[in-house]
Amino acid sequence: MSAPLIAWSGVSAGYDDARVLHGIDLQVHAGEVLAVLGRNGAGKTTLLHALFNLGPQVQGRLTVHGQDVTGWPTHRIARLGLALVPQGRGVFADLAVRDNLRLATLAPHTRSTSAGAGRAWTLERVFETFPRLAERQRAASGSLSGGERQMLAMARALLTQPQVLVLDEPSEGLAPLAVQEVIARHVADLARDGLTVLLVEQNVPLALQLASRVAVLSAGGLAFEGTPEALARDKALQREHLGV
Ligand SMILES: Nc1ncnc2c1ncn2[C@@H]1O[C@H](COP(=O)(O)OP(=O)(O)O)[C@@H](O)[C@H]1O
Ligand SMILES: [Mg+2]
Repeated sequence: MSAPLIAWSGVSAGYDDARVLHGIDLQVHAGEVLAVLGRNGAGKTTLLHALFNLGPQVQGRLTVHGQDVTGWPTHRIARLGLALVPQGRGVFADLAVRDNLRLATLAPHTRSTSAGAGRAWTLERVFETFPRLAERQRAASGSLSGGERQMLAMARALLTQPQVLVLDEPSEGLAPLAVQEVIARHVADLARDGLTVLLVEQNVPLALQLASRVAVLSAGGLAFEGTPEALARDKALQREHLGV
């Protein structure tokens, strides 16, 4: 296997007096869809926020393309080709859809498009990929449905020309049909196109449907790492660590 694109090595993380993650060793490899599953409070967001240096105190080592990025400011980590779609979407509600997208193209962590191997993400390509956003481009982002807002958040992330798309519970609050049409369809298309995806989810069927590899986070430690098929078979593990 090639050197990992992202690696957490002996990473513990937490907030002031509360330690949340305990010595995590995990890698993301180029071209895979890695799903990290876990119950509410398991530490999934903390795992991502440790990587992006977005708040938690971190011990251990984080690397991107083998380079130690521990303690780097968030925008420098993002410039290495990592785009985070935060839990709850993080779009500017008062801005029109189009202006939210334009802002993303100006973001300081946007990579020069020549750096990427694939076709660059432009407003035009975003509107081709998400026709609904083209229809709603003049609408205030706050007026979008949950599914539309998730498309906008994904589009904003893609406009920074990432190599890895990191999604924090994208299916949260969406109806089953929207989960399929917005998340499943687009993540599958993007992965087929060569994008590496780190998908954090509580939705086990969605993760099993999309992932090439699965990890289960439970009480701040890794309880499982393996294929979606192996997790699907292990009902006892699902019951104990995922509550399904
Ligand atoms: N900013 C924070 N300050 C203090 N505690 C936090 C903070 N964010 C999360 N936590 C705590 O860390 C634990 C893990 O949270 P989180 O990483 O958000 O889990 P998940 O994303 O799996 O639901 C929870 O007990 C939560 O209350
Ligand atoms: Mg979370």
